[in-house]
Amino acid sequence: MSLKTKLLIALDGPAASGKGTLARKLAEHYNLALLDTGKLYRAVGWNVLKAGGDPENEDDAVAATKKIPTTDLSNPELKSESMGAAASKVAAIPAVRQLLADFQRHFANNPPADKNGAILDGRDIGTVICPDAPIKIFITADVETRAKRRFLEEFGNTGSEEEYRTILEELKARDTRDVNRATSPLKKADDAHLIDTTNSDIEAVFEAAITYVSSKE
Ligand code: CDP
Repeated sequence: MSLKTKLLIALDGPAASGKGTLARKLAEHYNLALLDTGKLYRAVGWNVLKAGGDPENEDDAVAATKKIPTTDLSNPELKSESMGAAASKVAAIPAVRQLLADFQRHFANNPPADKNGAILDGRDIGTVICPDAPIKIFITADVETRAKRRFLEEFGNTGSEEEYRTILEELKARDTRDVNRATSPLKKADDAHLIDTTNSDIEAVFEAAITYVSSKE
């Protein structure tokens, strides 16, 4: 398969919309290289906090971004909602986004030879990182549904009502930051296919996504 015919999927959406699960299923189904771009921002946030810095301070965040090539992206600590909050703070800094953009574009345009292409999930893949991607999906769900999903992921069945409320407030704060930032705000690309997962399980979402991909092939 030539480079030109390789598949490129841009998948965007808000926190806990089901992007990660859908991205993994699509990557497996189509044999695509997968980049969870949120992990890059989470890792920058983690690096800032570990160095005792402030995620909203540009110098701290830029220094932390430069450490990304040697940062362990599989660190389970990156998954917590508090690291999501730190991620969305560093993600509002244009210099951080600029530094990470080249890495993401290189990944999108150079999938390994044994892969049929690439899928990137994030907030600005269809709008800024890969605006020419032939397949764009924007996945969303109402904020209470997303908070319940994140709550179950973090606490299983042992979480309290208060912990659920905290997650809900954190997600709302993150949505507000992601949608309102000046650089690369979270936004559906005009030509992205919208999937609302509020009342759908992952199998239904996956079916909707592959039906859409097939319609573009
Ligand atoms: O997994 P979840 O959807 O909760 O978040 P994530 O994809 O890991 O992203 C964490 C944070 O990084 C987001 O709230 C965004 O502020 C930021 N982010 C971004 O700005 N651009 C991306 N392409 C990916 C993530």
